Amino acid sequence: MSFKPIRKAVLPAAGLGTRFLPATKASPKEMLPLVDKPLIQYVVEEAVACGITDIIIVTGRGKRAIEDHFDVSFELEALLQHKGKDKTLDAVREISEMANFAYIRQPEALGLGHAVGCARSLVGDEPFAVLLADDIIHNRTSALAQMMKVYDKFGTSVIGLQAVPEADVVNYGVITPQTVESGLHRVVDLVEKPKPADAPSNLSVIGRYILDPAIFEALDRIQAGAGGELQLTDAIRLMLQGRVVHGLELVGDRYDAGSKLGFLQATVALALESAELGDPFRAFLKDLKL
Ligand code: G1P
Repeated sequence: MSFKPIRKAVLPAAGLGTRFLPATKASPKEMLPLVDKPLIQYVVEEAVACGITDIIIVTGRGKRAIEDHFDVSFELEALLQHKGKDKTLDAVREISEMANFAYIRQPEALGLGHAVGCARSLVGDEPFAVLLADDIIHNRTSALAQMMKVYDKFGTSVIGLQAVPEADVVNYGVITPQTVESGLHRVVDLVEKPKPADAPSNLSVIGRYILDPAIFEALDRIQAGAGGELQLTDAIRLMLQGRVVHGLELVGDRYDAGSKLGFLQATVALALESAELGDPFRAFLKDLKL
């Protein structure tokens, strides 16, 4: 059986980036450069590589740089052409040609659920992906590609999971699993940011989702939850009443690039694999007297 293709991805990017102040005082955290690309470009590339053609970015005040990044820059392209910098020109051009980009504003930072709900009119009545730029999952087969395989098999919503240390569940959405096969679960219930003592498991939601459009009706019905915010987790929980949701344990090293330490770790991991920088960077690290 083949299900409706996933053509659209929603990228919430309206957050204030408070964990990364002062760097994010006047620049969006999504534009922090990880090695040589802004954070948000990694998730755009991940989505596009999975066949997604429409990228919907939910932005807010102070996020103009994101729109400029994915737009054509005539002056810059003309200058690079004039200087004969063909490789750089290609890299710059590719960014705006990758997908159709649409932007919608979230007027107030009312939570992840609210941010996704803002994209409703642009998504319409079809299943779609949500990718959180903070979550860098480093693996040969990307996180979303792993989840697409589950979607292709079952046609249900799929959420990305990783097992985290028990004390850390308080930072995540956490599921009650009914295991289907190794690493694949049916989500029986889920709760946002539980105390370790109340957590149903340590299988935590990582920032990748494939969602049935029924999520939008569920988002209309939720009340403010953990942290006083409208939580996507709570809407998925409501959607469980009528829809099957699968959870897939993602293979790969995950970095919380929205935190200073996670960002540094992601930088080192990705720099070591860079064709251009890997060798000299490795040599530099070896010379450090740690
Ligand atoms: C959000 C989600 C949470 C999920 C997490 C993954 O939380 O609400 O369910 O586990 O992303 O990174 P946030 O990190 O925005 O607090």
